[in-house]
This record gives sequence, structure tokens and C-alpha cells, in this order.
Amino acid sequence: MLTSLFLSGILGVLLIPVQPQLISVCLEEDEDLRVDCRIEPKPNKINSYEFSWSSRTKEALINTNVSGSAAEAQFRDKSEVVELDPYGYRMTLKGFTNTLPHNTTYMCKISGQVESINVEKEQLQPCSAVSLFLKSSWSWIVPLLIFLFHTHC
Ligand SMILES: *[C@@H]1O[C@H](CO)[C@@H](O)[C@H](O)[C@H]1NC(C)=O
Ligand SMILES: *[C@@H]1O[C@H](CO)[C@@H](O)[C@H](O)[C@H]1NC(C)=O
Repeated sequence: MLTSLFLSGILGVLLIPVQPQLISVCLEEDEDLRVDCRIEPKPNKINSYEFSWSSRTKEALINTNVSGSAAEAQFRDKSEVVELDPYGYRMTLKGFTNTLPHNTTYMCKISGQVESINVEKEQLQPCSAVSLFLKSSWSWIVPLLIFLFHTHC
């Protein structure tokens, strides 16, 4: 009993950093900005998306398919949204990375739920590093789980 409590404690701590964030921002190889939004859609709501950012007092809509609202003209041909598996949307924006303000809040809204993340320009990670990190953490957590189940159940 104590051992399993102890083990679930350890596992809990190990698994927390691996949980995907609902919104994440990274830089693609060609310096495009990528914003992933993994909010689970609500079954009874229209599944529309909205990507925006703000810095200080300026807020700008980058891409949306909410009917009746429109993205700012400067982003219209520069941004693209694709669906993610199993749910969520990925927005990529070309050509603004160099002009990003120092401190930017990225926001996305799906089915009325809003998520935001505050990222300083210097902290933007390459997307390849982010996915490598996720892959490498899973590659040792799964064998560890198998090992623990074999030795204690
Ligand atoms: C927005 O796009 C998604 C998927 O591309 C679609 O399911 C949804 O109905 C669209 N929303 C509106 C308001 O057009
Ligand atoms: C960046 O902006 C956020 C939200 O406006 C604020 O909470 C945070 O303190 C700012 N960070 C820096 C380093 O200015």
C-alpha cells in the first residue's frame, strides 16, 4: 500500500511536465511562428477558432473563422490554420518573427474557451526542440512504467 502510494507519487511528478499545454508557441525552421491550440471542442458548440496576440495595450486578430469577425488585413495572406489530430488547430504566421515585440501574449479561442500564453521573444523555442523533448521524455517513461508494473503488481 505504502509502496504503491509512493510509486503513484513519483509517477505523478514525472508525468506532470509531459502533459501537453493547451496552447504552445514555437518557431519553425523557416522562422515562421507556430501556435498550437489543443482545446477540446465542446460537442454542442460551433467549432470555430480564433488566434490573436497582444502586447501592452495593442491586441490583434491573426486568424479566425468565426462568422462576422475578420483578421487584420496585414495577417490575412500570411497566416494559415490547419486542424490537429485528434482535435485542436495549428496556426502558422509568416514574416513577423523579426518584428515581434519583446513580450507578447498569444491567445486562442475554441468553442468559447480562451487559452493564453505569455512568451518573451528571446524565449521562443524552435519547434524541432519541443517535439524532440516530448519524444525523449516518453521514450524513458514508458519502459519505466512497464518496469514498475512488473515489479509491484
Ligand atoms: C471553422 O473551421 C472548422 C474546421 O475547419 C469547422 O469545423 C467549423 O465549422 C468552422 N466554423 C465556422 C463558423 O465556419
Ligand atoms: C509580459 O506581459 C505580461 C502580461 O502583460 C506580464 O504579466 C509580464 O510581467 C510581462 N513580462 C515582462 C518581462 O515584462
